[in-house]
Amino acid sequence: MTDTKTYTLIDGRKVATEIKQEIRLKVAERKLAGKKIPHLAFILVGDDGASQTYVDNKVKACKEAGFHYTMMRFADTISEEKLSKHITHVNNDEDVDGFIVQLPLPPHISVERITDKIRPDKDVDGFTNRNFGSIISKVPLLMPATPFGVMELLRRYDIKTEGKHCVVVGASRIAGAPLSMMLVEQGRATVTICNKYTENLEQYTRNADILLVAVGKPGLITAEMVKEGAVVIDIGTTKVDDPSKPNGFSIKGDVDFKSVAPKTSFITPVPGGVGPMTIASLLLNTLRATELRHP
Ligand code: GUN
Repeated sequence: MTDTKTYTLIDGRKVATEIKQEIRLKVAERKLAGKKIPHLAFILVGDDGASQTYVDNKVKACKEAGFHYTMMRFADTISEEKLSKHITHVNNDEDVDGFIVQLPLPPHISVERITDKIRPDKDVDGFTNRNFGSIISKVPLLMPATPFGVMELLRRYDIKTEGKHCVVVGASRIAGAPLSMMLVEQGRATVTICNKYTENLEQYTRNADILLVAVGKPGLITAEMVKEGAVVIDIGTTKVDDPSKPNGFSIKGDVDFKSVAPKTSFITPVPGGVGPMTIASLLLNTLRATELRHP
């Protein structure tokens, strides 16, 4: 007998397109009403190919949404002090509603100190401590963008988290840690957080109703590690050399999609899953930052 079970591919591109369309309409309404158009600024340090591609995609999304944008590029030799001064300048620029510092930064610059310099109400990536705390706050400001995008994907695919066992692999400040808090606070889920020190990872992943992976190790999650019928969300984005691609690389997730997908009920692909949602969240946060400053 052949196995006819199928899984649903979670189409992040489609959902992100819907959200961007909703944003575009709101921007058009603001324009008609003579209100300020959202202005998003990008700070890019060095010439890392993957970062350039990510920022290009974000700029394209800004244009499509009708936002204003500014691109600021710096050589990877820039000192932390100089970069900090530029951040202070953007913090004080009345026209900029939100900005991001694309990561990674060169090793001589502290991501933590730089992130800490960003004004929380312009921190549209949601990286600052204030916005991290916002997840459990009664007065939310700007949600961390990647987890916000994941939660929105689950909502739009009607995947219930309440009472479910969510296993988050990876505890980074950008993804795993805030996502775990959101699943508990907004999703009312039971959450297990695994990190790089976790022993017998598969013992946890196999018990997940919803498995969310944000590590940056292509192929980490294989079929034996996943429960039959689980939902699998792949947040990994690793740049891998690929001579067949015009830019010489492709982006790989943490899940061995081919072997894992047939065991799942829902799964995100990479690319085309969580990645586009991060951009949609960035635009949503920028619109919110603009609305807060210019109601
Ligand atoms: N590098 C990888 N992902 C991200 C992101 O979401 N925001 C920023 N600023 N840098 C990144």
